[in-house]
Parts: sequence; structure tokens; C-alpha cells
Amino acid sequence: MQYGYFDDKNREYVITRPDTPLPWINYLGCQAYFGIVSNTAGGYSFYRDARLRRITRYRYNNVPFDLGGRYIYVRDDETGDYWLPSWQPTHSDLEQYTCRHGMGYSTIGSKRRGISASTRYFVPLDENLEIWQFTLSNERQTPAALSVFSAIEFCLWDAQDDSTNFQRNFSIGEVEIEDGVIYHKTEYRERRDHFAWFACSAELAGFDTQRDVFLGPTRGWDRPAAVERGESFDSVAHGWAPIGSHHVRLVLQPGETRQILFVLGYHENPKDEKFDPPESQIVNKKTVKPVIARYLIPANVDEAFQKLRTYWDGLLDICQVTTPDIHTDRMVNVWNAYQCMATFNMSRSASFYESGIGRGLGFRDSNQDLLGFVHMVPERARERILDLAATQLPSGGAYHQYQPLTKKGNNDVGGNFNDDPHWLIVGVGAYLKETGDWSILDEPVQYDNQPGSEQPLYDHLQRSFRYTLDRLGPHSLPLIGRADWNDCLNLNCFSDTPGQSFQTTTNKEGKVAESVFIGGLFVLAAKELAAIARHSGHADEAAGYLAEGAHMEETVRRHGWDGEWFLRAYDDFGNKVGSKECAEGKIFIEPQGFCILAGIGLEDGLARRALESVRKYLATPHGIVLQQPAYSRYYLHLGEISSYPPGYKENAGIFCHNNPWVIIAEAMAGNGDGAHDYYSRINPSAREAISDVHRCEPYVYAQMIAGRDAPTHGEAKNSWLTGTAAWNYYAIVQFILGIRPAYDGLQIAPAIPERWTGFRAVRRFRGVTYQITVRRAGTGNAVKLMVDGQAVDGDVVRAPADGRTEVVVGVTLE
Ligand code: GLC
Ligand code: GLC
Repeated sequence: MQYGYFDDKNREYVITRPDTPLPWINYLGCQAYFGIVSNTAGGYSFYRDARLRRITRYRYNNVPFDLGGRYIYVRDDETGDYWLPSWQPTHSDLEQYTCRHGMGYSTIGSKRRGISASTRYFVPLDENLEIWQFTLSNERQTPAALSVFSAIEFCLWDAQDDSTNFQRNFSIGEVEIEDGVIYHKTEYRERRDHFAWFACSAELAGFDTQRDVFLGPTRGWDRPAAVERGESFDSVAHGWAPIGSHHVRLVLQPGETRQILFVLGYHENPKDEKFDPPESQIVNKKTVKPVIARYLIPANVDEAFQKLRTYWDGLLDICQVTTPDIHTDRMVNVWNAYQCMATFNMSRSASFYESGIGRGLGFRDSNQDLLGFVHMVPERARERILDLAATQLPSGGAYHQYQPLTKKGNNDVGGNFNDDPHWLIVGVGAYLKETGDWSILDEPVQYDNQPGSEQPLYDHLQRSFRYTLDRLGPHSLPLIGRADWNDCLNLNCFSDTPGQSFQTTTNKEGKVAESVFIGGLFVLAAKELAAIARHSGHADEAAGYLAEGAHMEETVRRHGWDGEWFLRAYDDFGNKVGSKECAEGKIFIEPQGFCILAGIGLEDGLARRALESVRKYLATPHGIVLQQPAYSRYYLHLGEISSYPPGYKENAGIFCHNNPWVIIAEAMAGNGDGAHDYYSRINPSAREAISDVHRCEPYVYAQMIAGRDAPTHGEAKNSWLTGTAAWNYYAIVQFILGIRPAYDGLQIAPAIPERWTGFRAVRRFRGVTYQITVRRAGTGNAVKLMVDGQAVDGDVVRAPADGRTEVVVGVTLE
């Protein structure tokens, strides 16, 4: 069953009923001001940091799930009937409900009793504000006297404190109302130089800023007293819970349409010009007023919206493909790329499942996110790499997370996740291959954000590499530390006390537990670092990296191969994890995918056998599960992985993030059919028809789909913020379609299904547009390349020597 459809031409997903199984959300803003908006206008906004600069309040895990957001009430002043065109929270009967989620905007509207209303929400580029373009039409035969009420809840302080510290917070709320603009200035009198404002383009009949007055003390958002009686109270918040609500009255003639603009913004004042007059406590509004005025003019708003569309078209047009598979096309051309922007911006911090107060930006996560993002805005990828590297520790290890606002490593979580440092090499490699900007390696970057500790970025990569060599275990495999990619495989934790965090409970420097996964990652990193060294004037070091990589590869073969698949790890007692010898958790997905991705076993048949085992033991129609058999009980020596009920999350769930590793492995092994088959099993668009099972949005990946051991097999969870986005983009574009930035040029090495007759692609790469046509002549993957009509050896297209910016590439697969 479906709840909507893809409008591919407009790059929108159209939801046709409000009662989706879960809120189906979208992101507004892609630079500094962000919002999350659901298909019923739920959600919240923040500036840069969802914890420290939250602008509006949101209550997670609410009942109903998605309550509170960007609400506009419409009231028929003749009958007193009122509703929200976006359905929640009044749940009124609506006709023609649609929510169009597009690239950086959402339009939600419906019709009730002859009155149509719709709101387009978006954040203009380069501005710290969001616009609600509200349109109201009278489709009746008679004039309609209507009231419109806007409503948001302010929360411009620490969002964590907001849900704990009521004894203080109920006394500090302050607002100002001037010319119909509501200014939220809580804590402005002390150390904040920033405030929020909420403006309306229409003449106001009234306003409210105190929640309890607007709603009435015993009511909720479904029955606000002001809306019910059809008149605001003009309340001014002193303490308690400041909100913003405008009241507009209008009479619409039959057939008449009116637009009202509501604009919510964040603004910073210079520290010494906070107040006006200076000795007062009144917010200086001189610097913000021109911004407010600009966006209360419809023509400016329309122009800003067009700019946003053009911006997104430009980003997406960098890579466009036409294949025989519609699900591939719409994910690659629109939605997967779009999701990669969200994961780049948010890491794992703010969604409907990540509260914005828990985690900052993950070192591992943000480096991997670059794989799907770097081609869109390489300058921002560059900045991110330097920020991440600056949190690296002198040991080469890394803080697991850092705060986006301060850009400092997070001490509460700390480091010792022994895979972390290598992802920096992976991220930098992706950046260099995309841009050819070798200068980044010379950038001086601090360690642990300590002034004076600057070393070239290249030195950071060397220390990342060294980190593992300094931490080898009894089998000469990498020690796992607190965890590797699998945050929940905690082999040094041994927690028997409820409530402890598995990741941070012990800081024990385990000297026994080893990770085969990190072994594979190290081999990949060694090859990447060697290539980087070769291309950047450190050729003498390349051989050394390769030798270390080859040595690790040998170790993985010797101590990390279980007979039919790669082992997962050795535990703190030196026993195998992910082996046929284990009673549960005999085979894990991560080392199968990642060892092969690093090139291990491609020549001697190990890869083929490992992939056969994946197909036999781990593959389900809904994707590949993380391990089998699922852990049926809690194992002290394994940690969080065995804390989940079987089939969920890391305990044998389909953890979508690592499915693309197997997809890539299949492609590398030359099996385009297998690769695309796995790709399709978790492709959200391909799962649209089973939306009642899948439940999450059909246009973005979710972190997890319940595995075969779960009673809800096939049900997705934790949509949007997941490494799945970047890795699937990388897998389909670079390995199945095979359009792969390389150090020397654009490599084209497809591994497509046998039944495909070919595909077309347009890729802008280092200033050149490549028009690529791939045609299947035989059943294999051998590439014959024609560049501008000339046959070329190998599979790499080099930049045209004569400075041309259009190149035609013909590829024949034999
Ligand atoms: C989450 C984390 C990621 C980790 C994965 C597996 O997605 O953000 O860092 O690798 O879970 O545990
Ligand atoms: C990862 C895992 C999750 C775990 C968390 C702890 O996100 O997916 O299961 O609880 O890490 O940080």
C-alpha cells in the first residue's frame, strides 16, 4: 500500500493522506538555519546546533507522535468551525490533502468546506530565517469571513535544559512586540547576543505570546482558546512559555485568493550594540529590520524560492543518470543525493529519531558522509575535513564526536573507537579524487584543537595510519578498543549494571580483543594512503604503506578467515566472534563486505566464498541482516549488540549502512546482477509499494530494517540520518554504474545487471561535463572506451588537454 507517489519531474514526493504510518519528514535549510518539517507541519527549527541554538520547541516521543510545529489555524468566523490545513492536531476532515516534499521546501495544503489553504515552507539561501508562504482561497459561491492564527513555541536556549530545568526556565521567558513582529529575547539580558523573531505580512487583528493564555490553561494545541473564540488575547509573556501567534482577519470574495507571509528568523547583534537605547534592556532591532522588511514582500519571497530551486537543480545536475530502472534513477538523480546533503549537515544529530541534544557530529560518520556529498559542494567538504582533523588527538586517535557549534571534541564520549582514525583517510581520499585539490594536504591543522600543535593535514593521515600499527593484538590484528564500526560490539566493556552506557562505561585499554573489520579497513586505508603519497610528492613512503597493508592482508587471511567467510573479531578471552565455532553470531556482514572492498580475496576465491555465505546465511528479501544466528540473550563479553531483541539494530537487524559494502563487493567481484539485486532490496523507492510494512519515508533510507528474527521483519526505523545514504550513493554510482572519480581522471568501470542494455549519464567533474553512454555488447564487464570518438586504453578518462569543457564518452561492455 502507498501513501503517495513520486513526482519525478518536479523532484518532489507527494503524500496524499496525512495519516502516514510515521511522520514523513523533510529538511528545510542546507547551510546554517535548519528546520525539520513533517507531512503534517510538525517539527522544529534551529540555527547551526540543535541543542545550543534551538529556535522552536519539539517534544520527542509525544502522543500523538508528531505534535507541535509550524501551525496555521483557519477559522470560519461565521460558523466558528476551525481546522488546520495540515491536519494535525485537530484531525479535521479534509479534502484534497497533499504534502509535497521537495528539495529544501515542503508545501502542505488541503480544502475544507469550500476553503482551500496551503503553505509552502522554505529557508532562503544565505539567510537565517524560514518563510511560510500561506495561500487561502474561497471556492464558495458566497463571501467568506475567515480568521487565520499562526502558532509556534519558542525555545531559544539550551534544548536539553529546556526539558529538565523548569524551576528556572518558567521564570525567564521574555518577549517584545513591535509593529506586529514578535521578538523572543529570553536570556538576551545576560549572555546571549541573539534572539528570534516572528513576523507577518498582513495587518494583525491581534497576537499572543503566552502559551497558557493562547491555549487556555487546561487545553492543548487541538483546541486553543483564542482560536475557538476567534480573537487573540494580545498576551505578553513574562516567564512561563513564550510562543508566537498572529491573528489575521479577512473576508474573501467568491473565487478570491489571498497570500499571507509568516517569517520566523534568528538574528545576532554585535555584542556592544545589543540594546537600543544602549542603557536599556530593549533589543536593538536596527540590524534586523531590513531583513524582516525584505521578506514580507511577496516578490522577494518568490525570487528567493526560485533561487533555491536553481541552486538544487545545479547541485543535482552534477550527476544525472538514465538507466532501465526507475528506482535507480530517482534515487541517484534526486533523493539519495538530497539525503546526502542532510547527513552531511546533520551527521546523526537532529532528526525525528535523533533529538539534537544527544550526539554532535561523529568523526566516523562525518568522514563517511563525505563519500556521497563531496561532489556537490567540495568547498564545504574541505572545511569539514579540516574541522574533523582538528579534533584528532596527538596519538592519531580521535574523539568519537564533536559539537558543531564549538567544533571541539566531546569529552563525555571521548575516544578509543579504534576504527575512527582510518575514516579520515577514506574521507580525504574521496575529496582528493573528486577535486584534485592537493593543497589540502599542506593545510596546517591542530591536534585536539590546541593552538601551537598545527601540523599539515598529511601528518594527520600518517598518524591515523600509525595508530593501528601501535595497537595490534595477539594475532597482530588491530585491537578493537571500545568498538569499531559496530558501536555495539563492546568486547572490552563487561557491563552488568543497568543504565551504564556500553560505549563509555570502561576506558580499559583492552590488549586482547581484536577486530577483523578494522583489519580490512586498514588494508583499504593503506592503499588509499599509498596512492595519496604517490601523487603528492611522498612517493618514497608509498611502498611502506603498501607493505604494511600487504602484511595486514596476510594476517587477515591467516587469522581472520573462518573457512567459508571472514571472522568478525576475537574477544577479550581470545575466542572467536563470528565463527562457525560460535553457538550464535556465527557470521557477520561487516568483514565480508569490508575485507572484499579492501581487495582481500578477490584473486584467490575467498571473496567469492564469503559472498556465497552472505547469500546463504544473511540475505533476506528486505536486505542483508547484520549477523546470524541472532543473539538470543545478553552476553556480558559482547556488550550492547546482545542487548537488542533478536532482529533489531545491530543484533541481526538489516543495518542498511553496511549493505552497500556487500553491494560494492559483489560489483568488485564482477557480479552486477547480485549487486543490483541487493541494492534494490533496500532502495526506498523500490519499497514504496510496501509502505505499510516499511512504514518510513519511501524517498530516503532508514538506518535499519527489522531482520528476519524480528516479529516486524521488513519494518524500517530511524530514517534520514544514516551512513546508508552516502554508502548507497557511492555503491550505485561508483561501483554498479561505475562512474568513479580517480586520482588521474574519471574512471568508468560499470558492473551492471546482465539484462541491462546499457545506460546514460552526465557527470560534471573537475570543471568538465562528461556525456557518458554505456552500451552492453557482451555479458561481461570488460570496458572499451571511446573518448570524443577516439579509442582510449584502460578505463580512465583523463581531463582534456586542450581545455575543452564538454567530453563525449562511449563505453562498450564486452
Ligand atoms: C550508527 C552510528 C555509526 C555506527 C553504526 C553501527 O549508525 O552512527 O557510527 O557505525 O551505528 O553501530
Ligand atoms: C549506534 C548504534 C546504537 C547505539 C549507539 C550508541 O548508533 O546504532 O544502537 O545505541 O550507537 O552510541
